[in-house]
Amino acid sequence: MTAYPKKVRLVEVGPRDGLQNEKSTVSVDTKVALIDKLSAAGLQSIEAGAFVSPKWVPQMADTDKVYAAIQKKPGVSYPVLVPNAKGMEAAVAAGVKEIAVFAAASESFSQKNINCSIAESIERFRPVMDEAKKHGIKVRGYVSCVLGCPYEGDIKHEAVVKVAKALHSMGCYEISLGDTIGTGTPEKTRALLQAVKKEVPVTALAVHFHDTYGQALANILIALEEGVSVVDSAAGGLGGCPYAKGATGNVATEDVLYMLNGMGIDTGVSLDKVAEAGRFIADALNRPLVSKVGQVYRNKTG
Ligand code: HMG
Ligand code: MG
Repeated sequence: MTAYPKKVRLVEVGPRDGLQNEKSTVSVDTKVALIDKLSAAGLQSIEAGAFVSPKWVPQMADTDKVYAAIQKKPGVSYPVLVPNAKGMEAAVAAGVKEIAVFAAASESFSQKNINCSIAESIERFRPVMDEAKKHGIKVRGYVSCVLGCPYEGDIKHEAVVKVAKALHSMGCYEISLGDTIGTGTPEKTRALLQAVKKEVPVTALAVHFHDTYGQALANILIALEEGVSVVDSAAGGLGGCPYAKGATGNVATEDVLYMLNGMGIDTGVSLDKVAEAGRFIADALNRPLVSKVGQVYRNKTG
């Protein structure tokens, strides 16, 4: 029988990855209410926003206000994305305890996303890591496009391994492997993880699937089989736009939870409460619920 992890930590990325893609503006109050609902549901890691350029991502421009207003529940981490020293200054000023730096395995995506090469991005992270160390801030690292790039197509394992290893050796406690456009399929996921595990311990790996092609749960199952026990997801399956072809959000936290609950894997998270949070944000955005499990809850409660 396959040995799955007994416990999984869910990293909730909806308030950041989900809302960064929304066309409509989401108020500070709504973001705060969402994050507080997610912490009340028992999630231990909830991305609260991003200190990135407001010209590039206007939806995250109020991260300092959001961070100041959320309930800081003991034992819960509220990481924010930081792309460079300027973002780190803002993170330190806000008093954050955890940040995430983000690089890509694809040169073209790195240029489009953060306006520099992969090597330049790693160099930019060095002063960020130094500052983090000085202030006792934990750092998570992302690698985007691990199973495909919107500009380059297939991405070689070596490219992923190189960036994951660089981020891990510079001090990121965890590396989240991002299937940014959701093109990964199960055996491709397995082969990638087996390659990365040779260079970065599996205990330091997380998976981050966008569900564009509906492959996320299948890929997560493979990741669990490979020993990964940290999974990124977004309540309500937030992100992307239902009217834009090919643009969809992260795998829904409700859907991942339903699967993990059914497998007897402990997360410490209440499915009822996450479903309520997913519904809250879908209603606030006036969008249909993407999460299958969320739809069942909605149908049950009317
Ligand atoms: P740039 O234009 O090359 O930056 O952008 P620059 O250093 O040349 O500075 C230009 C201007 O931006 C200056 O202001 C800077 O002060 C300002 P000006 O003098 O023109 O008034 N600036 C900043 N302002 C606020 N915060 C900052 C900051 N840095 C510079 N941190 C930069 C480079 C990295 C800033 C930009 O490209 C950027 O913000 N990119 C962020 C893109 C982003 O947030 N993408 C989404 C997150 S990644 C993701 O979703 C993938 C993930 O989910 C995993 C997966 O799915 O694969 C994590
Ligand atoms: Mg993402």
